[in-house]
Order: sequence, then structure tokens, then C-alpha cells
Amino acid sequence: MGNCWGARIKDGSTHPGTSGMFSRSSGKDGSRLSACSSRASSASMPPSAKTECEILQSANVKVFSYNDLRLATRNFRPDSVLGEGGFGSVYKGWIDEHTLSACKPGTGIPVAVKRLNQEGLQGHREWLAEVNYLGQFCHTNLVKLIGYCLEDEYRLLVYECMPRGSLENHLFRRGSHFQPLSWNLRMKVALGAAKGLAYLHSAEAKVIYRDFKTSNILLDTDYTAKLSDFGLAKDGPVGEKSHVSTRVMGTYGYAAPEYLSTGHLTAKSDIYSFGVVLLEMLSGRRAIDKNRPQGEHNLVEWARPYLTHKRKIFRVLDTRLEGQYSLSGAQTIAALAVECLKFESKMRPSMDAVVTILEGIQDSGEAARKLASDPKGAGRKMTSTSVGRNSDKPRRKSSNDLQKAAGRDPKTSVLHSS
Ligand SMILES: Nc1ncnc2c1ncn2[C@@H]1O[C@H](COP(=O)(O)OP(=O)(O)OP(=O)(O)O)[C@@H](O)[C@H]1O
Ligand SMILES: [Mg+2]
Repeated sequence: MGNCWGARIKDGSTHPGTSGMFSRSSGKDGSRLSACSSRASSASMPPSAKTECEILQSANVKVFSYNDLRLATRNFRPDSVLGEGGFGSVYKGWIDEHTLSACKPGTGIPVAVKRLNQEGLQGHREWLAEVNYLGQFCHTNLVKLIGYCLEDEYRLLVYECMPRGSLENHLFRRGSHFQPLSWNLRMKVALGAAKGLAYLHSAEAKVIYRDFKTSNILLDTDYTAKLSDFGLAKDGPVGEKSHVSTRVMGTYGYAAPEYLSTGHLTAKSDIYSFGVVLLEMLSGRRAIDKNRPQGEHNLVEWARPYLTHKRKIFRVLDTRLEGQYSLSGAQTIAALAVECLKFESKMRPSMDAVVTILEGIQDSGEAARKLASDPKGAGRKMTSTSVGRNSDKPRRKSSNDLQKAAGRDPKTSVLHSS
């Protein structure tokens, strides 16, 4: 066990108030928010009521020495870098499956080692929050934390290595290594990520993730999506409280408008971020892209008017999808994004409702595939709303349509239930 600081975890709250403006950014693309909103007064909310020692002792993970991880990554060789973020670099390493000690590359199991290079309290807080949450959770759609290192000034985290990297790379990186993700894989990833978020919001976990974005969605060999990076996660409100008051942190383009203006954090802030990611998957465009023409920098602002329009929706859809989707499927996803991106946070659906909608899409996609392989058998029960694009007539999507697509009685609302 590394040295415990014994102190209760507190937010440093040393940043000057900026009247809701952001004073500092630390992300690799300079887009990470890290500043005070003048109204986010309870800036000293700890990520949990536990002390640092309690967090480290209760984490169900291995404690590595710095030397273990130096050996596992061959001295943090530059050619083993998997990616870089605001926290530091992430390296590929190898450890023995049973003893978890460092081993030769190509033997044992691959791991991803994240090394904190950001000095100061905030970096330590994020590192500790990661140990606190990921050290306890175990879910198919959350990345597994294998261990950590806390030694002198070193802060490292060791995760299962996700062989296909981040969704961000698959959606936005160009080059022969990154083929565009198919529609079906996008839907699979959206469903997996939604299940991860739904688990975090469940009564069992009651956590607000606060940094839902494509670089934090990692992909397994079979494209199972897993959420990583719990550095900004917060315990949800308790008792009668409707929100948690925090400093405004997160990433530009993904943070919900009411959270940006008030610092009041709720699970609905995550739902907004989910809507942004859904839109990125639909369009193949980044949430914020300054290289686009004027008026198209902010994806949500640009796309919003097209999403509910039965013909204009094609302006938003990623041209690299080349008609792999059914029109009704694309409209359902667009309508779901609109619901998630509602300005009024209470009007946004719960994550459970989102999962239900996405499962409906998945089921209809599977039914369509069966129809293609066995036109006489499996497809007989299909309706025109659930099969390929040729059978689809463009029609307006209402929330009733969304619920029908999810196989629910529209009279029983699945949306907006919190
Ligand atoms: N467990 C992992 N397996 C494989 N690759 C990973 C793993 N964790 C992180 N990576 C890669 O490293 C990159 C950097 O991750 P990191 O979480 O540090 O930063 P980020 O999410 O890209 O940015 P930010 O710091 O702004 O959140 C990821 O985008 C991903 O490509
Ligand atoms: Mg990340």
C-alpha cells in the first residue's frame, strides 16, 4: 500500500471566480473545462465522504510499485504510447496474468498504464476519484481498473487494455488503420456506452460521470464499449437534494448548458453529453470543430434544426455510412438525440429509457439481418418500420414513434422518467 495522506479529500477551490467563464483548460486539445463558475459556491464538495486511506484500502485492486510499471512498459517507451490526455500519457505494458508482476511484451496480459504528469492537487484528486469509483465497480461496460501506483510524486493507474482504443479514434481519425465504423457497430457501441451510463445512474451506483465523450469510450475486440476515466465523477445528490453543486469541469462541447451556467450537476447533465456523442456517431463530426465553416463549429447548434426534419436529416448523417442504415433507424436515433439535448434538463430521458430505445434499434437490425439471410422465415413478422431503407417511407418521428420503435406502448411513457 502506498503512503496515505490521511486527509479528507477536498476540492482545492483555489481557482479564481470567473463569473461562469472558463479560466483554464488542460485537455490535450485545450478543450477540457476546469474553472469556477461564480455560482458554483460549494466548491469544496469531496468526491466521496471517505478519507483517502479508506478509498485506497477499500479499492479492490493491486498496488504496483513504480518499478513494476517501469518494467511492464519497458521504461515507458515512446513507441508503447497508446494515447495522450490531459492527465498524462497512456502506455501499453505487459503483466503476468496470475501474479500481476511485469513480464515480457507479448507474454501475459496487455495492460494500459496511465501516468499522471500534471502536478498539483487537481491531478491527485482525479487520480483518487478514479481509484475510488473504478476500484469498486464491476460492470461489462466499464473498463476494469487492475491497480494503481502511489509512490513519492508518482501517480499511475493500470487498466485492462482495450485493443480497439477509443471511439474518438474510430470516428475521427483518418488513415488505413481506422476504417469508418459501420452503422451496426455504431449502434452496438451506443448501446454499450448507454448501458455503462445507465449502471452509473442506477440506485446501486448513484454516480454522475461528468465526462462522457468519445475519447472516454473504449472498445474491446468485439466492439463492446466500456467507459473509462472517472476522474471527474461525483456521487449523485442524496436525500431531498435535486443536484450536486460543483466547480464546472468537463469538456467543451459536451457539458450541459444548465451545468455550465449554474454548476448544478445532475444525472441529466450526463444525458445531454450522451446526446452529443450520439450526434457525433450519427454525423461523423466532432462536437466542436473549428476547422469547419463558420456556423458549423458547434455540432449541436448546427445540427439541431435538421434533426427533426424528415428530408434535411440527410445533411447531418455521415456520408461514410453510405446508406447502411434504415431511414427509420436514423430518424429514431436523431429523435433520441433531440430528446437527450433538450434545454430543459427535466425533459431529457433517463438512461434506462435511452437503453430501451437503443435495444429496440438493435433488435430491429438483427431482425433485418435475419430477413436478408432467410427471407421466407425470420422476416415474416417484420413491419415496414423495422426493415431496410427501401421499405421505409420518410415520416415524422414523434416520441410515440420512438416508443413504438422500442416495442413499448406509447401510452406508457418510457421517456422523461428519471
Ligand atoms: N485502457 C485503455 N486501453 C487502450 N487505450 C487506452 C486506454 N485508456 C486510454 N487509452 C488511450 O489513451 C488515450 C488518452 O486517454 P486519457 O483518458 O488519458 O485522455 P482523453 O480521454 O483522450 O482526454 P482527456 O484527458 O481530455 O479526458 C485515449 O483516448 C485512448 O486512445
Ligand atoms: Mg479519457
